[in-house]
Amino acid sequence: MRVLVTGGAGYIGSVSVEALLAAGHDAIVLDDLSTGRRAAVPAGARLRVASYGDEALVGGLLESERVDAILHCGARSLVGESVRDPARYYRDNVAGGINLLEAARRAGVTRLVFSSSAAVYGTPDRSPIPEDSDPHPINPYGETKRAFESALAWYGAAYGLRSVALRYFNAAGASDRYGEDHDPETHLIPTVLLAALGRIELTVFGDDYPTPDGTGVRDYIHVEDLAQAHLLALQATAPDDLRTGAAEGPAISLVCNLGGGEGFSVREVLDAAERVVGRKIDHRTGPRRPGDPAVLVASSERARSVLGWKPGKGTLEEMIGSAWAWRQHHPDGYPA
Ligand SMILES: NC(=O)c1ccc[n+]([C@@H]2O[C@H](COP(=O)([O-])OP(=O)(O)OC[C@H]3O[C@@H](n4cnc5c(N)ncnc54)[C@H](O)[C@@H]3O)[C@@H](O)[C@H]2O)c1
Repeated sequence: MRVLVTGGAGYIGSVSVEALLAAGHDAIVLDDLSTGRRAAVPAGARLRVASYGDEALVGGLLESERVDAILHCGARSLVGESVRDPARYYRDNVAGGINLLEAARRAGVTRLVFSSSAAVYGTPDRSPIPEDSDPHPINPYGETKRAFESALAWYGAAYGLRSVALRYFNAAGASDRYGEDHDPETHLIPTVLLAALGRIELTVFGDDYPTPDGTGVRDYIHVEDLAQAHLLALQATAPDDLRTGAAEGPAISLVCNLGGGEGFSVREVLDAAERVVGRKIDHRTGPRRPGDPAVLVASSERARSVLGWKPGKGTLEEMIGSAWAWRQHHPDGYPA
């Protein structure tokens, strides 16, 4: 399969491209390098530096490269920034995304897998969260993910687009070569590891949540397990795929959560990180951040039963251990 990967120079995209290549597929990366890194694009994938929102360029690329399917990982994805500057999120995640869909429609590409997010749920009323929980995003980032998911469903019904939207919970860990390098870094595990290296000061936001140790509980999923889910989801968009009931039938627009199904508190992550790095990690405790729910844990039963996904690298220490190994090899992140 020949796959166009938007955001393939980013954290999740690079590990996904690596997995696609390892499985014998062909990958073309389309990335504007706004948060991604050129050095994160695996050798063997071609990089085109441009925006997925450039409809004419993307249409030409899909046709000239004879692309079979799109893995759409590219996005703006900082919650706080989305609250301060929602225009950027609507323009890039929604309007840009529609340009990508239009380019695909014109080029006759009918298969797409989308990086969605647990942020579509907002503050959930159930835990673990199943996919049929009502989405109530509480920030523009989550709202734009939900809007694009809806577009996928309507494009499926009207134009025959076959799509899988994967709602990731917290991606974590690294492959041997590719890891997480964001600036600013907002995710807990890389932040804890940067604090362990003395690069930043670590703040735990809130220790008075209604959780066993008072800190927020989240569901972490190894980035290599996400990459495997992408392969399965791409296969599931094939017109003759029986798992999704798509054989010669109606267009599909499947939505699946991807998480480990187990919650870990900030305190548990810190303790596990201290065991991995072999020393205490300095931190201070601050107030809760507005909009942070106490607990966010996925039910990933649908991904298991429909896609046949089996996450295999899920222990917290394995995830932190792989992120730590990558960080030690790249103390300054990827080269510029
Ligand atoms: N990291 C997580 O835990 C997590 C959780 C839920 C959802 N997601 C989603 O997964 C996807 C990947 O996340 P990530 O952590 O790897 O982020 P990332 O910032 O590392 O990667 C995003 C990539 O997209 C590229 N990009 C952004 N806008 C673009 C555009 N208009 N055209 C082309 N390329 C563009 C960036 O340069 C970057 O390489 C995002 O869609 C994000 O919303 C991530």
